[in-house]
Amino acid sequence: MQDKSQIIEMNLGGFSSRYILGPLACLDLKLFVDAPPPVYVIDRTVAELHSPWLETIQAECQGSSGEIFLLPPGEQAKTPAVLESVYKWLADRALTREGTLVGVGGGATLDLAGLAAATWRRGVNFVALPTTLLAMVDASIGGKTGINTAGLKNPVGCFHPASGILADCGFLATLPRRRWQEGMAELIKTAALGDPRLFAELHRSRSKLSAYLADGSELESVTGILGSLPWREWIGRAAAVKARIVTVDFREKGPRKALNLGHTLGHALEAHSMAHGRDLGHGQAVAIGMAVVFRIAAERGTCPLASAVQLLEILEACGLPVTYPEPSTDELEKLLSADKKTSARAGLRWILPERIGKMDLDGQVSTAEIIKWLNPGY
Ligand code: GLY
Repeated sequence: MQDKSQIIEMNLGGFSSRYILGPLACLDLKLFVDAPPPVYVIDRTVAELHSPWLETIQAECQGSSGEIFLLPPGEQAKTPAVLESVYKWLADRALTREGTLVGVGGGATLDLAGLAAATWRRGVNFVALPTTLLAMVDASIGGKTGINTAGLKNPVGCFHPASGILADCGFLATLPRRRWQEGMAELIKTAALGDPRLFAELHRSRSKLSAYLADGSELESVTGILGSLPWREWIGRAAAVKARIVTVDFREKGPRKALNLGHTLGHALEAHSMAHGRDLGHGQAVAIGMAVVFRIAAERGTCPLASAVQLLEILEACGLPVTYPEPSTDELEKLLSADKKTSARAGLRWILPERIGKMDLDGQVSTAEIIKWLNPGY
C-alpha cells in the first residue's frame, strides 16, 4: 500500500470494493489483479494526455505494457456498438473468467468498461482508475454500469462493483473547465445530501471556485486550480459519503435514491437538449435539477431558504447553469414519463431537500412547479 493514501473499504452485495485515494494510488493496481496481465479499456484522450504515467502503472502491475482498447471520449463510448467492439476485442485476446479488465477514464468510460467486465464470461474482475472529478466522487463508486440505447440514458446496465478504485488527483491537471464544472455538480450534490461541513466549506470557497470556473473557455484546462483548493480532502470526503450510502443500500431500494438529487429533472433536460441539438452536459443538467428542487422546497417552506440560496451561490460560482428556459409543459411531461425511475405503481418520486444533510426520498412535484422554478426570472 502506498503512503499517505486514504482508503475506504466497502462491502457491496457480498463483493469487496476498496477505494484508494492518493498520488500513487494507481501503482496499487497489482493488488487487485490475480492473474496478470489485465486488459485495459482507456478513454482515448486520457491515453494521449497521460501515456508515460499509464505506461508506468502498467509496468508496475505486470512488468510490461498490457493490451489496450481505446474508447471514444465521453458519452460517445456508451453505445451497444462500442460494447460489441469491446467484446470482439476481448474474444481476440481470449480474456478468461479469471482475467481482469481495468477501466481508465471518466464516468462514461467506467460505465461502459464496467458493463463489459460485468457481462464478459458472466463477469470478470473490474478495476477502475477514475480520471475526472465526477468519476472520482461518483461514477466509480457503487458498481453501477450501463450504456445508452433506445433513446434512453442508461436503460441497460447492471451492478458490478470494481474490486479496486484507484483515484489519483494528478489526472485532474488536464481536465477542461467543463469537466471540472460537471464534477463540481456531483461534489456539491454529495455534500448537500451527506456532509453539511463540506457543503459549508464549498460555500466559503466560492470566490476561489468562481475565479477558476465561472468564466473562460469550457474546453481549456484550468491552470492553477489543482494547487489552489483542497481537492484531495474534498474528493475523499465526498467519496466517503457515497461509500457510506452505497454500503447500506447497494441495490438502490432506499437511501441510495438520495444520490439522484437533481437527476430526475436533469435527465429530462439532457434528453430535451439532445433532441434540440443543444449541448447540455450531465453535470450542467443536474445543477439545474438541484436548483429547481431546492427552490420548490424553499417555497413550500420544507427546506430553509438559506440552504437554497447557498446551493445556488455555489453552483453559480462554479459556472454551472441554474435556469433553463424550456421545455413546454407537454414536452416536460413526456420527458419525465420516460424516466427510468418511474414506477408504474407509485408514479415519479422526487428527491426533495429538507435541509443540508437530509432529503425526502419520496417527494411529489407538479409539472407546473417545475416550469415555474426552471426559469424564475429574478
Ligand atoms: N450516481 C448515482 C448512484 O451511483 O447511485
